[in-house]
Amino acid sequence: MRGKKFGLLVIGAGLAALLMGTQAQAWNEGGGEQDEALKILLELKKKMKNDPKLKEKVRKDGIAVYEVCSACHTTEGWGTKDGTFPQLAGQHDTVIIKQLADIRAGNRDNPTMYPFALPKEIKNAAPEVGGGPYALAVVANYIYNLPMNPDNGKAPPGEANLERGKKLYEENCVRCHGPHGEGSEEKFYPKIQGQHYKYMLRQFEWIRDGKRRNANPDMVKQIKGFTDQDMKDVIGYVASIPVPKEKLAPSKDWVNPDYE
Ligand code: HEC
Ligand code: HEC
Repeated sequence: MRGKKFGLLVIGAGLAALLMGTQAQAWNEGGGEQDEALKILLELKKKMKNDPKLKEKVRKDGIAVYEVCSACHTTEGWGTKDGTFPQLAGQHDTVIIKQLADIRAGNRDNPTMYPFALPKEIKNAAPEVGGGPYALAVVANYIYNLPMNPDNGKAPPGEANLERGKKLYEENCVRCHGPHGEGSEEKFYPKIQGQHYKYMLRQFEWIRDGKRRNANPDMVKQIKGFTDQDMKDVIGYVASIPVPKEKLAPSKDWVNPDYE
C-alpha cells in the first residue's frame, strides 16, 4: 500500500511540474539553441550564394546529420503514409529548427524521437559536424531542399467531406497556413500541404485538446469548437491540396541518391 501511495505522489509531483512548465513556456519564445541555429542558418544562406564550396560543405554536413533521422523519416524525408512518421521534405527550415529545438528542450513530447535528437546522439553519428546549433541549421537546410512526396496519405474513402473541409479551411486556417497550406517561413507556421492525413489528424487533435504543448495559442482558440467530423473534413481537404510541381519529386518511386 505504502509503495502505491508513494508512487502516486511522485506521479502527482511530476504532473504539477509538467503543468507549471506549460504555463511558463510561451509558444515561440525562442532563445538559446533555437536562436543560435537560426542565426547560423541565416548567415550560411547569405554566404552560400557566392560560395559554391561552402554550399557543398553545408550540404554534406546536412547529409551526415540527416542519416540519423532517415531511420524513421525515411531517406527521402517522406515519412510514412500511415502517419506514424511525418513527411519532413520541403518543410520550412525555420519550422524544422523550432520543432527540433522544442523536442530537445522538452517543450514538445516525442518520446520515440527524443533520444535520437539529442546532441550526444547526433555527434556520435556525425562527429565532424557535432551535435549543437550548427547541426540543427545544416539538417534544416538539407530537409527543406529535399523534393516532396508526390503520393502523400489521403483520407480513406467516405471519411471526410472535402467540400465542407475546404470551406472550414478558408474560414479558419488560411490566415496562418496560407491559401494552399504553404505556411510561412518567417512566422514559423508549418507547411501542411502534402503532409500525411493521419499524421495531421493526430497533431490537430492534440493541438485542439491541449496535448501538444508547443501549440500556437491562437490556433487552439480558433479550433476549440471543432467536432471530430469537422476535424476529419478540414484535414481531409488539406491532405488533398496539390503541392506545386517544382517542389515534388519526379515520381513516387524516386530514391534519394545521397544515400545510395
Ligand atoms: C526513432 C524515430 C525518429 C528519429 C530517429 C527521428 N525522428 Fe523526427 N519524429 C519522429 C516521430 C514519431 C515524429 C512525430 C511525433 C508526433 O506524432 O508528435 C517526429 C517528428 C519530427 C518533427 C516534427 C514534424 C512536424 O511536422 O511538426 C521534426 C521537425 C522531426 N521529427 C525532425 C527530425 C530530425 C531532424 C531527426 C534527426 C536528427 C529526427 N526527426 C529523427 C520519429 C523520429
Ligand atoms: C493563428 C495561426 C493559426 C491558425 C488560425 C491555424 N494554425 Fe495550425 N498551426 C499554427 C502553428 C504556429 C503551428 C505550429 C505550432 C508549433 O510550433 O508547434 C500549427 C500547427 C498545425 C498542424 C501540425 C503541423 C505539423 O507539421 O505538425 C496542423 C495539422 C495544423 N496546424 C492545421 C491547421 C488547420 C487545419 C487550421 C484551421 C482549422 C489551423 N491549423 C489553424 C498556426 C495556426
